[in-house]
Amino acid sequence: MKGDNDGPSFSNIPAKSASYYDRNTQSYSESNQNPADFIDEFLEYLQKGKGKAVLDLGSGPGINAGYMHSRNFQVIGIDLSEKMIEYARSRYPHIEFRLGDMTKLPFSANSFDSILASYSLIHLTKDIIGSVLARLYEILRQGGVIYLSVQCGNSTQGFFSHPLIPSDQVFLNIFAKEEIVGLLSEHRFEIISQHEKLPHGKVFNFTKLFIIAKKTEPLQQA
Ligand SMILES: C[S@@+](CC[C@H](N)C(=O)[O-])C[C@H]1O[C@@H](n2cnc3c(N)ncnc32)[C@H](O)[C@@H]1O
Repeated sequence: MKGDNDGPSFSNIPAKSASYYDRNTQSYSESNQNPADFIDEFLEYLQKGKGKAVLDLGSGPGINAGYMHSRNFQVIGIDLSEKMIEYARSRYPHIEFRLGDMTKLPFSANSFDSILASYSLIHLTKDIIGSVLARLYEILRQGGVIYLSVQCGNSTQGFFSHPLIPSDQVFLNIFAKEEIVGLLSEHRFEIISQHEKLPHGKVFNFTKLFIIAKKTEPLQQA
């Protein structure tokens, strides 16, 4: 794994990430065939709240969308990589996958009961993550639930090589645990469950953090 801040510039990161995943759709998809860790726990919260409409943010090959659809949830996947969208559509033709940027979400307020962001917020720069969380709050219905998984460690951002794709680099935002917890609280999400996993096998050498959080009531105007 290589990480540094001397690689490509931080301008237009969404396009750079999309291009990375266009180049690496095949290898990413082959090595990521299982639904996300703790996805069943996330879906249990939705069942309790009778929430059905799920946005899969940065849906990649569509494995999570396919799994949630098989559990009778109504899923829309969105991803900025054309090749990932093509792959997901061909594998799950019965699910709606939209080509789009999670920094410019084309949904109106209260559109979803829940949002799954499995290793997708890691591709947003630190200056933009707050505004994206504010938008996620907006498009979630009251009491909605969000799942997110991120790489965590000492807070940094830069370009890294995945051990399975050593010749290429992708932008990653590595969160300190208190950083992502603070961001969620600042944007009025209340954490209801949290797990950590140490890196194992050929993965990025960071602890993985999984958070399930609930949208809290909007602030009352004075
Ligand atoms: C690490 S993959 C995760 C894919 C899937 N969620 C999973 O858990 O396997 C990150 C995905 O986020 C997508 N992505 C990165 N930046 C994006 C952006 N700004 N808007 C939409 N999708 C983005 C990438 O194209 C890629 O498919």
